Amino acid sequence: MKGIFISMEGPDGSGKTTQIKKLEEYLTNKGYDVLITREPGGTRISEAIREVILNKDFTEMDPVTEMLLYASARAQLVAEVIGPAIEAGKAVISDRFVDSSVVYQGIARGLGVETVYELNAHAIREYMPNVTFMLDLPAEEGIRRKKDQKELDRMEQESLDFHKKVAEGYRQLAALAPERIKVIDATLPIDEIYGMIKSDVKRLLID
Ligand code: TYD
Repeated sequence: MKGIFISMEGPDGSGKTTQIKKLEEYLTNKGYDVLITREPGGTRISEAIREVILNKDFTEMDPVTEMLLYASARAQLVAEVIGPAIEAGKAVISDRFVDSSVVYQGIARGLGVETVYELNAHAIREYMPNVTFMLDLPAEEGIRRKKDQKELDRMEQESLDFHKKVAEGYRQLAALAPERIKVIDATLPIDEIYGMIKSDVKRLLID
């Protein structure tokens, strides 16, 4: 890949947005043209799909429908935004990427890790992140933080049990791909978290 691709993962409320802003500043200072995207979303079509996926009224949504919708939003984002940016040598930071589907749909919804990766292979093509930071947070704490911020969407309204599966699923996934996925304790102070992210990204820039 010509540019660099970083994804930020973690349960709802784990502080991804704050870290992405700091990382953006760091990479900009290093001379990179930085592009930030979020999932599901980031293109006209993907944002429209997001409205469907997160709509609180759609409580009857089947897990397979959910998996396909996330993958569709991702396919459009990769085709329209992420792929071209990486080919142009940019640094892309994505707020969530394929690991979110693997954990939420594959593990927490029970569709299976392999099934979700295989399906998503069509959406992501060769664009796998160089590094993924997983902000690890107990499920209860994530939901508490989110509730303080805004009205909860369809996924956030899921049971505590579901969110526990998500938190545990991220840990399982990180253990399967320790080279790429870096687990960071999201209860640490913001600057401490940022320090760890920065030192890992620095290595990526030197390599
Ligand atoms: P968002 O408001 O972007 O959440 P956050 O601010 O926590 O990142 O909503 C995205 C929701 O969708 C979040 O609950 C995680 C979920 N999700 C999946 O279940 N599968 C996926 O593939 C993605 C990208 C997100």
